[in-house]
Amino acid sequence: MNQPPVLISAERIADRVRELAAEISADYADKGDLVLIGVLKGSFVFLADLARELTIPRTIEFIAVSSYATGSKSSGAVRLIMDVRGNIENRHVLIVEDIVDSGHTLAYLLGILSSHRPASIRTCTLLHKAECAEVEVDIDYVGFPIGDEWVVGYGLDYAERDRTLPYIGIVTPDDRR
Ligand code: IMP
Ligand code: MG
Repeated sequence: MNQPPVLISAERIADRVRELAAEISADYADKGDLVLIGVLKGSFVFLADLARELTIPRTIEFIAVSSYATGSKSSGAVRLIMDVRGNIENRHVLIVEDIVDSGHTLAYLLGILSSHRPASIRTCTLLHKAECAEVEVDIDYVGFPIGDEWVVGYGLDYAERDRTLPYIGIVTPDDRR
């Protein structure tokens, strides 16, 4: 099987993750414990790398959502599959996403996580398809802005394929079946 063409190499990802971790560590230096909430499944690789590069006290939580999607087009309707297990009330929270496309998922997550009354809530995504935004969401930390393409690897999939690729690759129209 052909490997997807490289959009962002493993080396560039590693460099950017280190930069983001330094920025986040500086921003939260005097705030105490930070709760990182990884959005399953796509963020598991990014979260693992980011969490280990941080120099501040941090704990890990996961939340799982699914967007009703047909192939590679999200419908905008988001469903909660698994809520966070730990208590986030009065704690500083950072949502860690793999990619923000239409923005519906992140908007939904901000809604439900805010209702748990955290001390603060910010958002971090490795990839941002800025031109695909359908709803306004504040993203505090962005790894790479990308165009309107379907990407895989480093946790992201196309129909569950290619999550374990070490780089971000582009799914070509030929592969979309
Ligand atoms: P949203 O459209 O911003 O709600 O994005 C929803 C979700 O769709 C993301 O969290 C990803 O799981 C998935 N997604 C969007 N674009 C891509 C892509 O290019 N590759 C893989 N997953 C994607
Ligand atoms: Mg995701």
